[in-house]
Amino acid sequence: MRAAKIKTLLETSEVNQNCAVHGWVKTFRANRFIALNDGSSLKNLQCVVDFEKLDDVLLKRITTGAALHLEGVLVESQGGGQKVELQVETIHILGDSDPDKYPIQPKKHSLEFLREKAHLRVRTTTFAAVMRVRSALSFAVHRFFQQQGFYYVNTPIITGSDAEGAGEMFRVSTLDLNNPPRTKEGALDFKKDFFGKETNLTVSGQLEAESYALGLGEVYTFGPTFRAENSNTTRHLAEFWMIEPEMAFYDLNDNMDLAEKFITSVLKEVLENCKEDLEFLDERLAKEDQSKPQAERSPMGLIEKIKFVIENDFKRVSYTEAYEILRNSKPNKKKKFQFPIHEWGVDLQSEHERFLVEKHFNCPVILFDYPADIKAFYMRRNGDEKTVRAMDILFPGIGEIVGGSQREERLDVLEKRIQEMDIDAEELWWYLDLRRFGSVPHSGFGLGFERLVQFTTGMNNIRDVIPFPRTPQNAAF
Ligand code: 4AD
Ligand code: MG
Repeated sequence: MRAAKIKTLLETSEVNQNCAVHGWVKTFRANRFIALNDGSSLKNLQCVVDFEKLDDVLLKRITTGAALHLEGVLVESQGGGQKVELQVETIHILGDSDPDKYPIQPKKHSLEFLREKAHLRVRTTTFAAVMRVRSALSFAVHRFFQQQGFYYVNTPIITGSDAEGAGEMFRVSTLDLNNPPRTKEGALDFKKDFFGKETNLTVSGQLEAESYALGLGEVYTFGPTFRAENSNTTRHLAEFWMIEPEMAFYDLNDNMDLAEKFITSVLKEVLENCKEDLEFLDERLAKEDQSKPQAERSPMGLIEKIKFVIENDFKRVSYTEAYEILRNSKPNKKKKFQFPIHEWGVDLQSEHERFLVEKHFNCPVILFDYPADIKAFYMRRNGDEKTVRAMDILFPGIGEIVGGSQREERLDVLEKRIQEMDIDAEELWWYLDLRRFGSVPHSGFGLGFERLVQFTTGMNNIRDVIPFPRTPQNAAF
């Protein structure tokens, strides 16, 4: 018999039907009750076996972690915990598990411990819930853009350009590290490398997305990006997924409007479609909060926080206004910031972003018009000659979730900036061409997908919202 999904059976009103299920044993109690989970639902299906009819050898093989195929009759449950249960008639052990060695025991494990068992952690209730929400979020992302008439473009993962100009890239090469070819001058000879030039894993698909926006109008990318920054924080990964919409004929205000609508739409969709998982994660966070000192506890529950973001407008503040707020703030005056705010033009650290979002405004904040010197070369220069049309969206508990800008569409201004910043203009010949042939005002942004999953699931560490995290000194699995 073909196995039904446990989720479907738990929701059905058709009892007394013959059915089959398969999944992994979460617990086996009293030689009688198997809690079976197949990943389709947060809840397990209670499967009741008649141990008197089973031989002892088979019974012993029903252990936590074992994979089973069960057939029987779905009946109204006698016990209180569930509506239906399976009265088991036949048992097939699909895969045994050694109960003494299986690391996922039916008890609370720390997230740190589970990171070392990343290949098995999705069998825990928490990780299964997080990964189902992650899946729903990525579907919501596509649905949002498709409904708005955007085209999905796949930008290259191997590139020759450093889009962000930050130089934090992973080299892609087939050269023999032990005996690399050298030029007459003794430098590495990349002409002999696979692509005949230096190449890296992309840090962003933006530049290529711009090329497609200036032809298809409105496009978005959703793919992996790579950064070799040595940041061991709860918000940084060396490999993360980014969503980058890019729109012709949009100015910065249109860009901010789209970003806000995008975030609230996907959150709304997930709130509707992942109720059970989010309720579980909400409770989990509340329990975790209780073990923290009062001052560190979150003022809102998880679902409450998501609803708050959906229902309230993001606060839009220019960098200069934010700078004034920070300069005059209590923590700055009392020298509580690790990086004190003195002069206009400093880059904002996460302690400043957190102050603005969590203490001052108490809502998501869009900061715009940043000093040119702390932003990338491609951002459109304002008339003041000091600031660029950049925008960052800051979220409570997360910090920066979106970075974007209106792009510099004027060839002369862009060329000058590239020169000032000492960027290799030759590599960017095609990007400059976009300003030579039918250039138009255009804008876009990048949203760090894992940071969105973190916000939605309430997981504190970004390593716990991606199946196999890549961080400095760690590429296990
Ligand atoms: O602010 P970033 O660097 O912007 C760009 O890459 C632009 N090219 C985007 C664009 O305009 N198309 O990165 C965008 C977002 C950040 O706001 C953050 O959410 C996320 O990507 N991000 C990271 N997420 C996880 N780990 C990292 N190391 C990240 N670096 C950036
Ligand atoms: Mg940024």
